[in-house]
Amino acid sequence: MNTLGIDLGTSEVKVLLLAANGSVLAKTGSKLRWSQPHPGWAEQNPQEWWIATVAACKKIRELNSLAYAEVAAIGLSGHMHGATVLDKHHNVLRPCILWNDSRSTEQCQQLTKQSSAFHDIGGNLVMPGFTAPKLLWIRDNEPELFRRIAKVLLPKDYLRYLLTGTFVSEMSDAAGTLWLDVARREWSDTLLNATGLSREHMPRLVEGTDGSGGLAPLAARELRLTVGISVAGGAGDNAASAVGLGAVHPGDSFISLGTSGVLFTVTDQHRPNVQETVHAFCHALPGVWHQMTVMLSAASTLQWVTGIAGEADETALLNRVDQLHLSERASAPIFLPYLSGERTPHNDANASGAFVGLRHGHNAAHMAYSVIDGVSLGMRDGLDAIRRAGSHVTSLQLVGGGSRSPLWAQLLADSLELEITVGQDSGVGAAIGAARLAQLSQTPCVTADINRVCSRPIVLRRYIPDDKGVHLARRRQSIYRSSYQALRGVYAQAAHS
Ligand code: XUL
Repeated sequence: MNTLGIDLGTSEVKVLLLAANGSVLAKTGSKLRWSQPHPGWAEQNPQEWWIATVAACKKIRELNSLAYAEVAAIGLSGHMHGATVLDKHHNVLRPCILWNDSRSTEQCQQLTKQSSAFHDIGGNLVMPGFTAPKLLWIRDNEPELFRRIAKVLLPKDYLRYLLTGTFVSEMSDAAGTLWLDVARREWSDTLLNATGLSREHMPRLVEGTDGSGGLAPLAARELRLTVGISVAGGAGDNAASAVGLGAVHPGDSFISLGTSGVLFTVTDQHRPNVQETVHAFCHALPGVWHQMTVMLSAASTLQWVTGIAGEADETALLNRVDQLHLSERASAPIFLPYLSGERTPHNDANASGAFVGLRHGHNAAHMAYSVIDGVSLGMRDGLDAIRRAGSHVTSLQLVGGGSRSPLWAQLLADSLELEITVGQDSGVGAAIGAARLAQLSQTPCVTADINRVCSRPIVLRRYIPDDKGVHLARRRQSIYRSSYQALRGVYAQAAHS
């Protein structure tokens, strides 16, 4: 039985064909655009998700038509938190407001003041990335449109509606709306009411490994798949990546260095740390939760400095960094990587990038070192926040674009004082997790099959903390933290001037 994983990413829809024995039969993608109509805003047209999905499925059918014809179930993954709003005729009312949109800062303050329930029941800080404050922004700024809202869907759940005609979400993504009672895994009336909504506006909830509906005739015809095949609950992209990496049992952890940077660990229960902006969500598998810290800029900071340095690509610049002696690294400036503001641990949309300690003698290589070092120090802030919420992380898999650099992996091992492993890069991230959830939805005993289906990638490289590197990282961590504290007021002043 083959399954199809569809991952609706911010810049690409990826699809993957998975065989029953777990091998990847084909993978491909179709690009997506997103727009920034104002500084700090990020929007996407939901119709384009469908067009890109159809295009990607066509490509994968061309790659392996026999295996495609045998697809028995589909799994979905997608970028989290986006607000897709529909009217009573199920028409999309406005462009989807995305996870990286920071327009709702004021609404976050309003919701936090108005009700402690978001912390007590939701177990998460109200931040502009999440869905609830986005709806409040619509209510405050587009009241006419708000009155017409009949359904609020997360991005991949809108795709599910187009596939199956049903309104369904699953626990991992639903937790990121802030309307979920995360410990009980059900919608909270109190949280919904605080945003002027009710259960009527919400999709039905299933676990990621449950079926959510059958493929509708129209969609089946367009995708050339069999009518009625099951579409599994699936997961938000981070939980789906975790399933793809075999991070399914309490303690299993990974770091993803993509556009944003994520440190993810599986927990045996809902373990919030609201004040330090730890995301405490449900995992996509029944009976487990996860914690996550999110840095809004990670590998994107390296792209940024590479462009400024005028180097051909990141590897060329990192080769220059590799030549730096320990003493040169020690005297490189400290970099605050807040190029898009920051979520964990500061929840500060005003925070921006900064070099502290620049001198005439510093060149592009020193600055590039500072940049990857700054992201590693930010990850250490995240790890400490997760530990203070009761988690025990002992080793981390490293994935995403940043995992290609051995230099960066060693810096992370030194900064986090933990073993970092890099596995065989499947290059498919969340899509394989989605396809695995589809496989699990077809098995009668999910718990027994989790270990078989959710294997870990073969480890290719291990990075062990090095004494000198750890010593240096500790010293730089302290300056890094003081730098943000010193600049916080300046950031706010700059934002309001
Ligand atoms: C998680 C988050 C991002 C998005 C986009 O909280 O905002 O990781 O899911 O990938």
